[in-house]
Amino acid sequence: MNDLKVLIQREKIAERVGQLGADITRDFAGQSVIFVGVLKGAAIFLADLARQVKLDSTFDFIGVSSYGNRPSPSDELRSGWDSTGEVRLTKDVDQSMRDKNVILVEDILDTGMTLTYLKKLLLGHQPRALKVAALLDKPSRRKMPIEGDYVGFKIPDEFVVGYGLDYAERYRNLADICVVPRVVVPKK
Ligand code: IMP
Ligand code: MG
Repeated sequence: MNDLKVLIQREKIAERVGQLGADITRDFAGQSVIFVGVLKGAAIFLADLARQVKLDSTFDFIGVSSYGNRPSPSDELRSGWDSTGEVRLTKDVDQSMRDKNVILVEDILDTGMTLTYLKKLLLGHQPRALKVAALLDKPSRRKMPIEGDYVGFKIPDEFVVGYGLDYAERYRNLADICVVPRVVVPKK
């Protein structure tokens, strides 16, 4: 796809991730934290964020997929698509979260279904604290009342790729965050 347009340049991402890391370092001063990344989109954000947090820390990863009518990749490019929001766990965390400071790391907060499900699941582990770090946030798409605690950038309702985010598993390795043009659906 040649018509990707840069939305957020790598330098701006690095600067903002540095600020989020400083915020987490300050908020949990003197304590340790566990970063729990949501596979696969959060892998790159987690790697960069964790290196900006000057605290004792460990990593874990959790995997999810959506049931049922998750749209096909091409549907995701049509404006106004909807997921059913039914989330299924494909990989659980490896370590106990009990009494730990957990930072759930996600690439993007969209409808909020995924993070609502994951927060509920992790709260069942009785962590000492549970915070959400999301690199991107599309507030206009929200269906569940959830906000990130550490949010990189609020963006409009566009489909974006790069820095971990994919379109049909591709483009995760782009260093900048780019917009994929919407498919124009012809009128009948
Ligand atoms: P939510 O459950 O609707 O909040 O969706 C979150 C998930 O949808 C993210 O983890 C992404 O995998 C995917 N997603 C939402 N918006 C985008 C986008 O613009 N580009 C790539 N993936 C997206
Ligand atoms: Mg995805």
